[in-house]
Amino acid sequence: MNAKINRILKKKNKTKIVCLTAYSKNIAEIIDYHTDLVLVGDSLASVLYNYNSTRKITLNMMIEHAKSVRQGITKSLMVFDMPYNTYKNKSMALKNAKRVIKETKCDAVKLEGGLKIKKIIQHLIKNKINVLGHLGITPQSVRGKFRSKGKTDIEKRQIMRDAKLLEELGVFAIVLECVETKLAKKITENINVPTIGIGSSVNCDGQILVTDDLIGLTNSKIRFVKKFSNIQNTINKAVKKFKYDVKYKKYPTKKYSY
Ligand code: KIV
Repeated sequence: MNAKINRILKKKNKTKIVCLTAYSKNIAEIIDYHTDLVLVGDSLASVLYNYNSTRKITLNMMIEHAKSVRQGITKSLMVFDMPYNTYKNKSMALKNAKRVIKETKCDAVKLEGGLKIKKIIQHLIKNKINVLGHLGITPQSVRGKFRSKGKTDIEKRQIMRDAKLLEELGVFAIVLECVETKLAKKITENINVPTIGIGSSVNCDGQILVTDDLIGLTNSKIRFVKKFSNIQNTINKAVKKFKYDVKYKKYPTKKYSY
């Protein structure tokens, strides 16, 4: 087993697991010191490309971003989010996952779904591909508005069943996106692999956020997003100073010229 995955597994019931997204080397380099896991998320479809759905990002685009991220990571586990339509069946999933691992040197891949993709996950794991599960809101299958999951009895049973199934199949952890607090707690207490929450309460074994949201680079109004910084302000101030210095010929001085 991958040593970085082992480190994450050992944290269950002991200490929280810190996970974030990265789409580039520069961000990866900064966050790597603090994180256990860095996800090259397909959220880059909306965050960077302003697409209205994660379905629109292609495998090639994701791979280019992941190659950049790889250069910024030394200690965290790097996970590649398999885009929509790249794991429609077992052989397609394996072919694409192998290509992704070869080209990006990531440690694992993430797939959205439970029972529906049972055979695909089984096949990847049988072929020694490390898989991170993703339940609750699974953006690749959402049409229209996102709604939190696990409020009705049917949903509760379904998500619990899927979590148990993913554990049995051998995923090393499961992302729970916008899963109702009590259900997230129950799942976390009833499976042996870590749960990584996003909008799913403090009861999960770890947390993940989109880095661009947490640093305040985006204008995200999503309920679970806490802005830990306002990087837009910092950029604004720097650019304003640059503009002033250019306008009044204070930059570049001799020191900055050849
Ligand atoms: O694509 C992504 O960034 C994700 C996380 C937010 C879980 O799937």
